[in-house]
Amino acid sequence: DYPKEAAVVKAALWSSFIALALGAVFGVIQALHRTNILRLIDSTDYYTVLTAHGVLMVVSFTIFFLVGLFTWATVRSFDRGVESIRYTWTWYGLMVAGTLMAVVAILGGFVPQTDISADVLFTFYAPMQAHPLFYGGLTIFVIGTWLAGADWFWSWRAWKAENPDERIPLQAFMVLTTMLMWYIATIGIAIAVVVFLLPWSLGIFDQINPLLTRTLFWFWGHPVVYFWLMPAYLLWYTVLPTISGGRLFSDPLARGVFVLFLLLSTPVGIHHQYVDPGIAEGFKVIAMTNTMFLLLPSLLTAFTVVASVEHGARQRGGTGLFGWLRALPWRDPAFTGMMLAGLMFAAGGFSGMINAGMNINYLIHNTIWVPGHFHLTVGTAVALTFMAATYWLWPQLTNRRLFSRPIALAQVVIWFVGMGLMSNAMHVMGLFGVPRRTAEPQYEGFEFVTSFGSITELRLQLAIGGTLLFISTVLFVSNIALSAGAPKLSGLGKPLSEPLSGAHDSPEILDNLKLWFGIAFVLVVLAYSLPLASIISRGGVLGPGVDPVPMIIEPLGATLEPLVASLQPLLGRLAAVVGG
Ligand code: HEM
Repeated sequence: DYPKEAAVVKAALWSSFIALALGAVFGVIQALHRTNILRLIDSTDYYTVLTAHGVLMVVSFTIFFLVGLFTWATVRSFDRGVESIRYTWTWYGLMVAGTLMAVVAILGGFVPQTDISADVLFTFYAPMQAHPLFYGGLTIFVIGTWLAGADWFWSWRAWKAENPDERIPLQAFMVLTTMLMWYIATIGIAIAVVVFLLPWSLGIFDQINPLLTRTLFWFWGHPVVYFWLMPAYLLWYTVLPTISGGRLFSDPLARGVFVLFLLLSTPVGIHHQYVDPGIAEGFKVIAMTNTMFLLLPSLLTAFTVVASVEHGARQRGGTGLFGWLRALPWRDPAFTGMMLAGLMFAAGGFSGMINAGMNINYLIHNTIWVPGHFHLTVGTAVALTFMAATYWLWPQLTNRRLFSRPIALAQVVIWFVGMGLMSNAMHVMGLFGVPRRTAEPQYEGFEFVTSFGSITELRLQLAIGGTLLFISTVLFVSNIALSAGAPKLSGLGKPLSEPLSGAHDSPEILDNLKLWFGIAFVLVVLAYSLPLASIISRGGVLGPGVDPVPMIIEPLGATLEPLVASLQPLLGRLAAVVGG
């Protein structure tokens, strides 16, 4: 019913899928290269490939999907078009421009003749440095997401003026709370990039404090994982119950979970810095404790979503303690994909608990266990949910039937099997101390002691898994592209079922977004002010022994002086005109 908005949603999803396809090409190159099975690149280009893979997957693929999905969810749940379609295209355009700048900077790494490169990996903190184009691109991309959030708040305000006594519809509530979290989290990355990394790569500062940019990066770098995850949660809470034939178990629990994520996502980033020497152990223990609290909303989600799916199965005639599982629509790729994604998320949760434990983290820190972990979470729970949901959403956006449901079903299963192999191999190799982010983990003369199998077998497992994942991505993207060419049909739009326990059962305070935003902000100030103060007092804003003020003023003066001089004649003429 909203063709203009549907066009933006489709454009955002296309951007997301193009990033996924390119990311998968780089992914399989890495998987085959580091296992020494097939070497298509020079090892010196490994970081270029790794950066391209990481950035395309976890910045472009995930966030473009998010903005498409959130636009759809906002328009659907308020049942009104966006306030200004031009504004909507503007933020989308900014995100595309930012991505192109960053990708050009990264791909420049393959061209030795140019000084453009950004081999800094997706965790782009100092001391590794990229070309200013990379930081500029990231900045424009993030500004695009801020404006996107403002678009959804704008719709909310307009809707509220007309419906003052109504509860915020559930999907819109999820969109708004997620964006509040994003506004808080991006403060860290905005300061890191605009105040330190960009001026440093422009040559305005010749040194910066690496620990400070690392800490500001992780201030954002952990909540960003919830930014990837919340759209998947939105789909599990609001779409999965419907396609399993039932209703969401509880709207109040769903709202509570999103509020908890808003409160708890940001004051935990220091758990990525357990081995950073410049941060006191006490701060790390506090971050670890906060991290463990985050298990609560995840466990609440597991309960609510499984209860909703069970309700669906029983509505379809399922019976027995576990027999109801048979009554579920397993032939539906959207359903099966999301269920398999949820299963992988549970496994990812277990390996995440190992990462989160301060002492046991030392065992796996910087080993390939870590990519093993997040290919289960963002790489499957999120990615597979997005792909599965697309099989449900795409026909409604395009008014065309999916090209092939059997291929779609095979695709989600292949992803699950491929990731099972790749991620298992990564976890096991990590336990034996095989490092991540290296093109040459050969270590001649070093015996890896394996409890079963061998390093050769694990490498093969990783490479086969990676290849299956690549095949699965090709099947997904071509199925969607071919669906765009099918004949148009009408009436493919599907309603969502109402929750069993609805919005009026939710305490009103849950909808008080100002309150939750305020508490979240205070928690972040409490968690970060002391560690940041200690990093700055010990290491200086720009590293030891540097006073930042003249460093900013002098180069700025040098840049501005010729500019002012060249404007002099013009100003003189203006003054004459005004005076005359
Ligand atoms: C890293 C393969 C999909 C996110 C890696 C690595 C491999 C790999 C082998 C480890 C490289 C190393 O540490 O030396 C693949 C394959 C994929 C795939 C074959 C499927 C076609 C994904 C997806 C995501 C993702 C869907 C996220 C949405 C990442 C990230 C890194 C990574 C963030 C870390 C990069 C770094 O360390 O800087 N991938 N991956 N990957 N992958 Fe994937």
